[in-house]
Amino acid sequence: MEQALQYARVSRERYIRELIEYLAIPSISSDPAHKEDIRRCAEWTAGQLRDIGMENVQLHSTAGHPVVTADWLHAANKPTALIYGHYDVQPVDPLDLWEQDPFTAAVKNERIVARGAADDKGQLFMHFKALEAVLKKSGRLPVNVKFVIEGEEEIGSVNLSAFLRAHKADLKADVSAVSDTSMWAEGIPSITYGLRGLTYLEIELTGPNRDLHSGTYGGAVANPAEVLARMLARVKDNEGRVQIPGFYNRVVDLTEQERKLFRQIPFDEAQYKHDLGVAELWGEGGWTPLEQVWARPTFEVNGIWGGYTGVGAKTVLPAKASAKVSMRLAPKQDPDEIVQLAEKYFMDNAPKSVEVKVIRHHGGKPVIVPLDNPYLASATRALREAWQREPLFIREGGSIPIVADFKEILGLDTLLLGFALPDNRAHSPNENFHLPTFYTGIESLVRFLFYLSGEG
Ligand code: BES
Ligand code: MN
Ligand code: MN
Repeated sequence: MEQALQYARVSRERYIRELIEYLAIPSISSDPAHKEDIRRCAEWTAGQLRDIGMENVQLHSTAGHPVVTADWLHAANKPTALIYGHYDVQPVDPLDLWEQDPFTAAVKNERIVARGAADDKGQLFMHFKALEAVLKKSGRLPVNVKFVIEGEEEIGSVNLSAFLRAHKADLKADVSAVSDTSMWAEGIPSITYGLRGLTYLEIELTGPNRDLHSGTYGGAVANPAEVLARMLARVKDNEGRVQIPGFYNRVVDLTEQERKLFRQIPFDEAQYKHDLGVAELWGEGGWTPLEQVWARPTFEVNGIWGGYTGVGAKTVLPAKASAKVSMRLAPKQDPDEIVQLAEKYFMDNAPKSVEVKVIRHHGGKPVIVPLDNPYLASATRALREAWQREPLFIREGGSIPIVADFKEILGLDTLLLGFALPDNRAHSPNENFHLPTFYTGIESLVRFLFYLSGEG
């Protein structure tokens, strides 16, 4: 183990050079114009797996973007870890807010800046490099390792569930490991044991059969933009509780024990507000901000449009208005059920003056990782030794749809060993990854492999 750690230390500059190559591929999964880039990125991933010494590297075509798998299975009688990550990234807009081209990585202030630096290429790449260090130094791994890497996480992992079902036997493992979450803060290693689920809808209201002169008709005809605004505003009451009937039915309340644990986490509300540039926070009454984002469901408007939004003024009563809305789900809420309840709610609550169309987008189930999973101890130890500090157990408000399927389809608990920092700006302009965390994180993953096997 010491030799592998040493190898990882002396290879840092090369690791960064290779990561810059990886980040240069604009693998934006949501944009059909990037389909070929996505494939090239899958091929780069496969090439990297071959270079570091993984075996049976395969690129599988799917109905969407390719899945890459690989393994190394020569550690007899040792556990098998299934490592998951995604090589696709979010779109880059608004482009003008980037300090540089999003796909020409730049290193400044100990950070590498590029789309995908933290979410998730940078973090996935850490696993590649930890494995490389061990394989190149000892010619073997202390445990068995399988990879399943996808290019559709940012669009809801639409084809991966079917892939898991079809390759169930090949993907058999004892535990899965995913680095696609965050640390509580720099220097504080963190294990995420809960993720929220997600369901996403688009609502389109149509009123009159054309845009109308707002002077001639305004006041006598319902305005779809206004109707939509009223409908959306009513989804939450003044205490921030979602009014969709049945929405909270399956929500598992936090235990007093958990609330106590959350309160021990050093959350600084003043700093949080300052970082976000908001004068006050607002959320569901009766819960702290951490409880609100980690363990409570919510309804959010992601985008809203309709009518005239160009330069200057145009007096118009729009024929149509639309919104994209999402719901983050707490443990036990079911995205399919919630999407039905929400759709019914919007249908039932729309006035006769408009026609409602609801388009369903992707979703994902919430996740809780049992804290008594036997492999969690190896991960905890690896993080503790690498950072010389006790890891913090946190939950996060984001979603990784496939993690629930790892449990349901493959029977695996997932260790969410995330290395992003809160200011990594995932999905935003100037996404970045903190290099000291990247280096220490690789060392923690080297340790993880050895501790998992009971060696070292
Ligand atoms: N890496 C994130 C998930 C995440 C976000 C974990 C924040 C912890 C904190 C992932 O790539 C992501 O962005 N997921 C999407 C879900 C998807 C269905 C588009 C999300 O959470 O919006
Ligand atoms: Mn991610
Ligand atoms: Mn993401």
